[in-house]
Amino acid sequence: MNINSYNKTYTVDTVDVIDLQNFVGSSVYLIVFDKKVYDIYKGTAFKDLDVSRAVFLEADENCKTIDTAVEICKIMADIPFNKNSILISIGGGIIQDITGFAANIYNRGIRWIFIPTTLLAQCDSCIGGKTSLNLMNYKNILGTFYAPDRIMIDLNFVTTLSEDDYLSGLGEVAKFNIMAAHDGIELLERHIDRLLHRDIECLRAFLKRSLEFKKKFIEEDEFDKGVRNLLNFAHTFGHAFESVSHYAIPHGQAVTLGLLMANMISFDRGLLDHNLKCRIEKLCVRLISVKLDYHWFEPSSIIGAMKRDKKRTSEQLTAVLFKSDLGLEIVHDLRPEEVERSLLELISYLKLSKLC
Ligand SMILES: NC(=O)c1ccc[n+]([C@@H]2O[C@H](COP(=O)([O-])OP(=O)(O)OC[C@H]3O[C@@H](n4cnc5c(N)ncnc54)[C@H](O)[C@@H]3O)[C@@H](O)[C@H]2O)c1
Ligand SMILES: [Zn+2]
Repeated sequence: MNINSYNKTYTVDTVDVIDLQNFVGSSVYLIVFDKKVYDIYKGTAFKDLDVSRAVFLEADENCKTIDTAVEICKIMADIPFNKNSILISIGGGIIQDITGFAANIYNRGIRWIFIPTTLLAQCDSCIGGKTSLNLMNYKNILGTFYAPDRIMIDLNFVTTLSEDDYLSGLGEVAKFNIMAAHDGIELLERHIDRLLHRDIECLRAFLKRSLEFKKKFIEEDEFDKGVRNLLNFAHTFGHAFESVSHYAIPHGQAVTLGLLMANMISFDRGLLDHNLKCRIEKLCVRLISVKLDYHWFEPSSIIGAMKRDKKRTSEQLTAVLFKSDLGLEIVHDLRPEEVERSLLELISYLKLSKLC
């Protein structure tokens, strides 16, 4: 698949074997590895890879900082990198964000290859070109747009993800499919068991669907000025859940909780029929594995976090909700009372489902 972006067209390939050595040829390169991924795969997928020029990072939000990006730049400067050199990142969204930022600022942009190893990075974040770093306690507040030149996806990596991280990726897959309305919801219902069992053939079809779905939005509105904002569906709530739980809830599972909120509020506004609301709820509860603490759903904390959301442009709360017949729209008139009512409903639902 090719993705058109403002300064290049980049490619996404699904592969069965990561043949990096062959791909980089005689170019000077530096690999930034998720340390955990290297440790798991050093005897198999990466056994023939020359790692004499590699950096190993713990995929931890605390290292997603400008200091880490600068450290990588220093190593590239010492090598030294030339115009044909390549930065390669192997890991999930954390490694992607750090290396994308470093690749963007070094020499005003160098060649960059990304091999995503989490389901979330494979099905969602690898395309779209966003790079984000944390600053002090502010998550993702620094950022640029800089896509890799090439993305190589080997779905077999997802077999070693923890259940929490795997379901985090499935949350984003569910989001795309619920956004795709009736067809997407039916597909999810039909294949949810296979997805939960990490059936690679089934995942392959959903990976393709997710990337094709996202591609339309990012090509039409690369810089988030219009239609791409709809991809933020479930995220205003999701970011608030992440923040209030101090990131104990992985991103994609917070998005699933956000889907439940958008679902409940849309129903309360008369925009969604009862049958669809229940079908979406039934899907979403299967995508949550973290033990939730009901304190994380305290209305004043969640509403406070939503008010701090960096996407908010007015005094009112903003969210993407369903409009009639499963279309989506951004609303800027969400009232705190509506959020509060849905949070109470969410807690009862989660308690009933033994998740809280
Ligand atoms: N740039 C973007 O467009 C974008 C979009 C969404 C999220 N993000 C960012 O991505 C981050 C979340 O990324 P993520 O969910 O991909 O995960 P991650 O990078 O946080 O990794 C999650 C965990 O999985 C481990 N891991 C990675 N691959 C593995 C594998 N194959 N087997 C076993 N363990 C593996 C990591 O070591 C880590 O412990 C957040 O910082 C978020 O802000 C960025
Ligand atoms: Zn997301």
